[in-house]
Amino acid sequence: MTKLWGGRFTKSAEEWVDAFGASIPFDKELVEEDIEGSLAHVKMLAACDILTTDEASTIKTGLETLLEKAKKDELDYSVQNEDIHLNLEKFLTDEIGPIGGKLHTGRSRNDQIATDMHLYLKKHTEEIMDAVKQMQQALLHQAEQHIETIIPGYTHLQRAQPISFAHHLLAYFWMLERDYGRLQDSLKRMNVSPLGAGALAGTTFPIDRHYSAELLGFDSIYENSLDAVSDRDFILEFMSASSMIMMHLSRLSEEMILWSSQEFNFVELDDTFATGSSIMPQKKNPDMAELVRGKTGRVYGNFVSLLTLLKGLPLAYNKDMQEDKEGMFDTVTTVKGSIKIFTGMIETMTVNTDVMAKETHSDFSNATELADYLASKGLPFREAHEVVGKLVLTCIERGIYLLDLPMADYKQASSLFEEDIYDVLKPSTVVARRNSAGGTGFEQVRKAIESGKTALQQK
Ligand code: ARG
Repeated sequence: MTKLWGGRFTKSAEEWVDAFGASIPFDKELVEEDIEGSLAHVKMLAACDILTTDEASTIKTGLETLLEKAKKDELDYSVQNEDIHLNLEKFLTDEIGPIGGKLHTGRSRNDQIATDMHLYLKKHTEEIMDAVKQMQQALLHQAEQHIETIIPGYTHLQRAQPISFAHHLLAYFWMLERDYGRLQDSLKRMNVSPLGAGALAGTTFPIDRHYSAELLGFDSIYENSLDAVSDRDFILEFMSASSMIMMHLSRLSEEMILWSSQEFNFVELDDTFATGSSIMPQKKNPDMAELVRGKTGRVYGNFVSLLTLLKGLPLAYNKDMQEDKEGMFDTVTTVKGSIKIFTGMIETMTVNTDVMAKETHSDFSNATELADYLASKGLPFREAHEVVGKLVLTCIERGIYLLDLPMADYKQASSLFEEDIYDVLKPSTVVARRNSAGGTGFEQVRKAIESGKTALQQK
């Protein structure tokens, strides 16, 4: 088969070479964006009198037919036609005759593919932002139910201080808030039209780039034609923001996995988000959380791979850049899927408040409270720390906790102790008193929920 660019060639490449060079197996994903870009381009060509109204209208009808077929998955792509652009051009000329060849006036596949990818990523970034918002909603909703549910807070995965479960969930809410902001910010630089930059240097035709940009919903146009066709920063920014989303989800995955283990038993995942074992009948595995943790690796991989691909590339287009697509598609699919899974998992999980309550009464995470108590009565903190350390040791030897220790022992350790320590030591008092801004005190958590709601309403 003769190539659409076959004019200066005397022989055809072998099929397997064509297959190696072709991008159609994956860039067919961009079919709708490619047609959308062409429709804007042809409208602009007519508006600038580069094509007649009749020519433009014939091409438009042809493109619309192709769009219909694409939506019904009726286009029979061929590796011989290399990529989505040449495949569509071939379908178009088959549909409307040689006039279809006029569509490519004043543009190149280089600005065409850049336009397609901007359109694609803009749409999916907006969809992912929406998904992030849904997940924030789910976190906020669970947080509202669990303001006064207390869990052990950890550092080094050792019990540190009791905290409100809502406070823990809200930590992820705010991570996602930053993720949302990063995606939103990246849209500014993504929302720029490369169309009309030509192969690299612009075109001799009197085109109107602002008009085609406007038709495609872009805010502005690239100022420099070389930059327009060579820029893939917008994909990198998306991948970087996506990597951070996955890193956050992966941390939450790890917590969900721990929390749903028999050892913690803080939450039970809904059956939809867990799987059984083919051999061990008792098992309920947190597979979806594990899978999200695992998928984080490929999203990082796609990011590093594109950075590496672009490193050292001379301007302008190089065929290396054809390799920019699969990682982008994969990142979109993976991030969307992972956020959706997490939204469902959070919405439907059962929180074992009784286990949490029991656990927060069976540890020494209220020890700091006791040291603070002595310090507030004038004992230097270092000495207070020592006194409480000894009391903890006494408890460990007797197999009890600080709340179980008789007053006599407290009095013996320091005359500053009064009966009120039993209230001070209660996990709910410990949490409630952490009332500094952004702390876990119930009052603060209630405020945080309100600011969370406001943040969501403003989106
Ligand atoms: N399939 C190509 C890609 O994805 C489209 C641009 C081709 N341009 C070229 N000059 N060969 O990168």
